[in-house]
Amino acid sequence: MGTAIEMKALKNSKYTGLAKKQYNLGTAANVCKWASIQPEHGKFTFGKCDAVRDFIKNEMNGTFRGHNLCWGHHNPSWMDKVKKSDKKDLLVNYIKKVASHYKDDAFAWDVVNEAVGSDNSPSQPLKKTFWYPDVPDYIDVAFSTARAAFPKGVKLFYNDYGIYSGGKHADNVYSLVKGMKDRGVPIDGVGFQMHTKTSKGVTVKGFKENMERFAALGLDIHITELDIGGDENDQAEMYANILKTCLEVPHCKSFETWGFTDAYSWKASEKPLPFDKEYHPKKAVASMLQVLSSGNTDIEITSPASLV
Ligand code: GLA
Repeated sequence: MGTAIEMKALKNSKYTGLAKKQYNLGTAANVCKWASIQPEHGKFTFGKCDAVRDFIKNEMNGTFRGHNLCWGHHNPSWMDKVKKSDKKDLLVNYIKKVASHYKDDAFAWDVVNEAVGSDNSPSQPLKKTFWYPDVPDYIDVAFSTARAAFPKGVKLFYNDYGIYSGGKHADNVYSLVKGMKDRGVPIDGVGFQMHTKTSKGVTVKGFKENMERFAALGLDIHITELDIGGDENDQAEMYANILKTCLEVPHCKSFETWGFTDAYSWKASEKPLPFDKEYHPKKAVASMLQVLSSGNTDIEITSPASLV
């Protein structure tokens, strides 16, 4: 069971105590991104990312998941001045540097984050970012560089939102990763972020079918950033259903929420996490424990309305 870890919360003993007690898998929420690791051009600062890695590995006795190597956001402002012709080298150099520092510290890395648009067509699914279209093949470049630079066992993931059930965004992600597989690009899996709400109508059936079509490409699935805003009962049920469904699909290999306490959520007003801001467990904790302890995944769902 995993969670994003906030660097700034590591000085809070309530936060660290609960993380250590309840979780054994973690991702740095922000400090392993470009803005933190390369704040100035050519200057690499790994201290904050190292601190979160160390907390996860040494204090939580956990597994570290890397997030992320290439994205259109959370980039330092100096990147705005980088010339188009220099972008590919910049990307390759960054991935090599990060890989040589972290080696196999993380069992998986999100190599590329959120590259696909919702409006674009499946034949041309990429959205305009710092990387695209200036480096038209930046995704392939990022994955090939990562494969050569990280030790063999480190899993390489494409991570995105809007892919918990079907829909345009999910279809575009599917087209992207299918194309990568067809071209022989070294991708191991897809991260389903799953920032959602109880009202959003994630269907268990759609979620399962969606995971299965990615799995049929030979890809693993990681639930990477789950949080669910809304009514506490519906939230508990939806957390349980998503966990249960992940457990039912053999290719779903990792399950993480985007934080664990509403005290440190990017969507705090929606109270989307399993523990409240006082660090008390909400019903979602019990419902997920029920799934985990039942041995089988056939749990009773009390109010199916939250999963249309
Ligand atoms: C996206 C990113 C995460 C994080 C969240 C918001 O989902 O992948 O790194 O920035 O948004 O907190």
